[in-house]
Amino acid sequence: MVKVLYIDCCIRREQSRTRVLAEAFLAALQAKKDYQVERLCLMDEPLAPLSEGFFAQRESLLAEHKHEHPRFRYARQFSQADRVVVAAPFWDLGFPALLKLYIENICVDGITFGADERGTFGLCKAKRLLFLTTRGGDYNHSPLEMGARYLEALCEFWGIPRFDVVAADGLDLGREAVQTILDRAIDDALALVENF
Ligand SMILES: Cc1cc2nc3c(=O)[nH]c(=O)nc-3n(C[C@H](O)[C@H](O)[C@H](O)COP(=O)(O)O)c2cc1C
Repeated sequence: MVKVLYIDCCIRREQSRTRVLAEAFLAALQAKKDYQVERLCLMDEPLAPLSEGFFAQRESLLAEHKHEHPRFRYARQFSQADRVVVAAPFWDLGFPALLKLYIENICVDGITFGADERGTFGLCKAKRLLFLTTRGGDYNHSPLEMGARYLEALCEFWGIPRFDVVAADGLDLGREAVQTILDRAIDDALALVENF
């Protein structure tokens, strides 16, 4: 059984076009019997930024190698997944701060990455991470796009060898019907199901 961790950061929930894209991909994936999807909806999680006492607690726990502490549960869950799917809209040239909060909480030395005198190395089990997003403007291949590019860099940091992104671009431009653009992105995502 392939364990898939689905990270839902579609802040607008039922209104979210990104979620439509993600659910189409997950439905096709789950139709294949050997994939088990675990869902993590970030909007329902008590995620906190690393600051003040919350930061200090992390430093003392890590100094004592207490990786089993409940606050590291997100990092342990992430590092043990066989595949990861992240869905988040394009916000402010990247993605919502809620996803960054999650990332801040899973980047834990000794769980998702390690470090020695040569530098850092990834400790995650996942073979691939798929990022699903929708954008108001057209940022395909634009140097201004910082969300997918940042996640791709993080995959290298975490030791996840393959990164894919499927984006529906230009949803708010009015040049093409939203459904037409979404359908094209869904087709692109479904093409990845076969060997996921
Ligand atoms: C807070 C916020 C910030 C956004 N920032 C951008 C942006 O920088 N560039 C862009 O092209 N669209 C931006 N958009 C538009 C969204 O990318 C677009 O509407 C997307 O499809 C929303 O996804 P959703 O339907 O899943 O919520 C922004 C939307 C919101 C609400």
